[in-house]
Amino acid sequence: MVDLVEKIIDKKELRGISLSFAQQHVHEWLKKHPEAEKEYEQDPERFYKKKHFQKMRSDIREHLRRVYGVFFTDKYPAKREHAITQLIQEPTTQRARDVLEIHRSTSERLPYYDSLYQQLFTITGKPESILDLGCGYNPFSYPFLGVKCAYHSVDIACEDLALVGAFHASLGIEHSQHCMDLTRSETVQALPFADVTFAFKVFDSLEEKEWGRVQALLQGITTNWLIASFPTKSIGQKKDIGPRTWFEKLVTDKVRGRVTLPNEQFLIITLKKR
Ligand SMILES: C[S@@+](CC[C@H](N)C(=O)[O-])C[C@H]1O[C@@H](n2cnc3c(N)ncnc32)[C@H](O)[C@@H]1O
Repeated sequence: MVDLVEKIIDKKELRGISLSFAQQHVHEWLKKHPEAEKEYEQDPERFYKKKHFQKMRSDIREHLRRVYGVFFTDKYPAKREHAITQLIQEPTTQRARDVLEIHRSTSERLPYYDSLYQQLFTITGKPESILDLGCGYNPFSYPFLGVKCAYHSVDIACEDLALVGAFHASLGIEHSQHCMDLTRSETVQALPFADVTFAFKVFDSLEEKEWGRVQALLQGITTNWLIASFPTKSIGQKKDIGPRTWFEKLVTDKVRGRVTLPNEQFLIITLKKR
C-alpha cells in the first residue's frame, strides 16, 4: 500500500503531505470502487498499468491539491529551505515576511499581520499558549504576535511542520508539532490545551470531506478562545464567497467579535469550559 500511496503523491506540490493522510484517501477510494480494489489485491504490480489506477491517481491528486497543494505560490519549493534557514538564523520580521510570502494564505495576510494580532488579542487577551489548526505557514508569523507564548502547530504537512518546529526551537519557546488529520476526532482529543486556538481558512476543507467534522472538532478541543477564519473570495477567480451559515449556527451566542480583511473574515469565539 505504501508503494501505491507514494506513486500518487509523487508530485512536487504534494510531496510534503502526510503519508497516512494520503493513505486514508487511497483506502476510501478503493472501498468506493470494489472492482479496482479486487484488481489491486490480485496483482498490485499490474494494477499500476490499469485504467483504474490512472483514475484513482487523478481523483486523489485533485482532492489533495484542493486541500493542500493549491495554497503554495510558485516560490515553493525553490525558496522554501533557503528562506526558512535564513529566518532561523535571524528571526526578524523581514525574514518572516520572506517565508510568509511562499504560502498563499499568509502572503495575502502579510500587509495586515501587525495590526491583525493586536485586534484579535484585544478581545481574547494576550495568550500564554496558542494551538494552530491546519496551520500551513502561519506559525512563521510568530514575530508579529507581540507576545512570547507557547505555540502548538497541527497540519497534514509533515515536512513543513518539521521546519516550523526547527524555527520555534530556535526562538527558545515551548512548542510542539502534530502531523495529523483533523477530521479524525480520536486524534484531536490528544491535542494540548491552549488559551487561544487558531483555525484559519481550514474549516471549509474539513467540512468538504464530511458534514459534521467541524462540530466534532469543536467538541473535542479544550481551549478558552477559538479564532476561526474563512476566505471571502475564491482562489484565483476571486469570486465572492458568502458567510458560512452552517458554521454560524454552530457558534450562535458565542461570537465575541469579528475582524475583516480584504480576503478573509475572522470570528472570535468563546469556548471557555472552566
Ligand atoms: C488554506 S490553508 C491555511 C493555512 C493557515 N491556516 C493559514 O491560514 O495561513 C489550509 C491548511 O489546512 C491543512 N489541512 C487541510 N486538511 C487538513 C486536515 N484534514 N487535517 C489537518 N490539516 C489539514 C492544509 O495542509 C493547509 O496547510
